[in-house]
Amino acid sequence: MPMNLISKTIIKELATKASGLDNDQGNARLKEIVNRLLYDLMIAIDELDISMDEFWAGVGYIGEVAKANELGLVVPGIALEHFLDLRLDEAERRAGLAGGTTRTIEGPLYVAGAPLAKGETRLDDGTDDGEILFMEGRVFDTAGNPIAGAIVDVWHANSFGFYSFFGPQQSPYNLRRRIETDRDGRYRFRSIMPSGYGCPPGSNTETLLAKMGRHGQRPAHIHFFVTAPGHRQLTTQINIDGDKYLHDDFAFGTRDDLIPPVERVTDAAEIHKAGLNKPFVRIGFDFRITREVAGAPGTVVHREHAVAA
Ligand SMILES: [Fe+2]
Repeated sequence: MPMNLISKTIIKELATKASGLDNDQGNARLKEIVNRLLYDLMIAIDELDISMDEFWAGVGYIGEVAKANELGLVVPGIALEHFLDLRLDEAERRAGLAGGTTRTIEGPLYVAGAPLAKGETRLDDGTDDGEILFMEGRVFDTAGNPIAGAIVDVWHANSFGFYSFFGPQQSPYNLRRRIETDRDGRYRFRSIMPSGYGCPPGSNTETLLAKMGRHGQRPAHIHFFVTAPGHRQLTTQINIDGDKYLHDDFAFGTRDDLIPPVERVTDAAEIHKAGLNKPFVRIGFDFRITREVAGAPGTVVHREHAVAA
């Protein structure tokens, strides 16, 4: 079929009616958004000459993704979650907010309500034989003052790349904790080194990525929300340096200043001092969070979160 069969005037009229823009009822913002998306979609169908079969394959695909609860995986996979971060970065820059730790995507695997510890804690339940990790640092404001009582909410995958709650055989809230910083703004935890992971084999997300010649792998990383009263929530991750996919993350989550050095400690005296009998890994990372400012776009994302039973 030839392209551009329908005039833009007719498309505009259809999108206007379909989104209710020609009445004064309903939600004005929703109507504006639906109108724009419909108009752009109809233009794309017309200009790309999208066939009936292609169109319904797309509708069917979205339905399958929703049924499999994979929307939270497809969205980062097609760079939309990272794109929202880029927009928030720029909005903050224009609002004069600077000096905070770089944000990056939350991803779909957060579970609300992890146990709260003061100062330091252990994240793993002792069943994972992976490399032992000690991670510590401080939470500062952008003037360099430590923030006592900040909450570092941390979650990561196990050494096989699986998250508790979503993956197989892990105790509740394994590798998930909230840590309240001490009077010096310090947090510290013991855990095991996470592994990178990929989209589940055979998943709708992997199918789409493969059709675009892309892989669905993420490098190893650790997720954080950092919050404190009067400050803007930071959503970020650190990446484990040296991972094969460090700069080839299917979810576009890697950012250059979120790759702290990974120190592998093999000195016998140090191992003994840590109360261990084998080498371990040490990572230091400080967070800087910005004060809340009137008029700046919010950083708390309201989306569906799992809650462990
Ligand atoms: Fe993750």
